[in-house]
Amino acid sequence: MNIQDKKQEILKAFQFRHAAKTFQVDKKIPQEDFHFILETARLSPSSFGYEPWKILVVQNKEIREKLMPCTWGGKGQLQTASHFILIFSRNEKDMHHESPYIQHMMDANGLPEESQKIRRSIFKTFQESDFKLLESSRAMFDWSSKQSYIALANMMTSAAQIGIDSCPIEGFDKDKVEQVLREEGILTGDNLELSVMAAFGYRVDEPRAKTRQSLDTLVNWV
Ligand SMILES: Cc1cc2nc3c(=O)[nH]c(=O)nc-3n(C[C@H](O)[C@H](O)[C@H](O)COP(=O)(O)O)c2cc1C
Repeated sequence: MNIQDKKQEILKAFQFRHAAKTFQVDKKIPQEDFHFILETARLSPSSFGYEPWKILVVQNKEIREKLMPCTWGGKGQLQTASHFILIFSRNEKDMHHESPYIQHMMDANGLPEESQKIRRSIFKTFQESDFKLLESSRAMFDWSSKQSYIALANMMTSAAQIGIDSCPIEGFDKDKVEQVLREEGILTGDNLELSVMAAFGYRVDEPRAKTRQSLDTLVNWV
C-alpha cells in the first residue's frame, strides 16, 4: 500500500471512531482481535518507560451490574459492550522515585547500576521540581493517569482500524467504583486507582457527523 492510501485508511479509522453509547449484544469481538487491541496498550509509550497502568477486563455480568449505579456515563455500554475495561494507574506508592516498583522496572529494563544511578537522580529532580509530583498524592496519580490515557487512545484507534467501536468513559464516581471492586475482592492493595473506563463492541446506531474546531483554531505556528 502506498503512503497516500495508508494515510486515507488511517484517517478513515479516525472518522469511524466515535463514542458509541450502545453495542450489538449478540456480536462479540473475537478473542484474537481483542488481544490485538490490548497489545497496542501494552506497546504504548510511558514516561521514563515505567508503565504506570493496569487493565481490568470486566466480562462478569454481575460485576457489570454492580458498577451500574456508580457509572452514570456508561450505563448503555456496561449493559451491551462485548468487552468492558477499567484502566487503573499506579499512585505514589508505586511511582515515587524511591519505590520498590520503580526499582523493579529499572531492573526489568536491564539498566546497569551506573545508568540506574544517573536515571534515579534525574527522575528525583523530575518528580521534585520539574513536574512537582510530590506536592500531593493527586498530582502523582494524575501524572500516571495522563500516561494511561495514551494507552486508552491507542486502544481506541487500533480498534477503529479493524472496524471495532469503542467509548471512553469518565462518567463514574471513582470512590464508589473502587469500593465496589474492593468489596468484590478485585481491587486489593493500595497502589492502584481507577483512571478511566472504556467499552468495546459493534455499534447499533450510526453516529452524528463529527464536530471539531478547524486546524487553524487548534494549531499555532511560530
Ligand atoms: C476522557 C473521556 C471521557 C469520556 N467520558 C464519556 C462518558 O462517560 N460517557 C460517554 O458516553 N462518552 C464519554 N466520552 C465521549 C465524548 O463525549 C466524545 O468523545 C466527544 O463528545 C466527541 O465525540 P466522538 O468521540 O463521538 O467523536 C468521553 C471521552 C473522553 C475522551
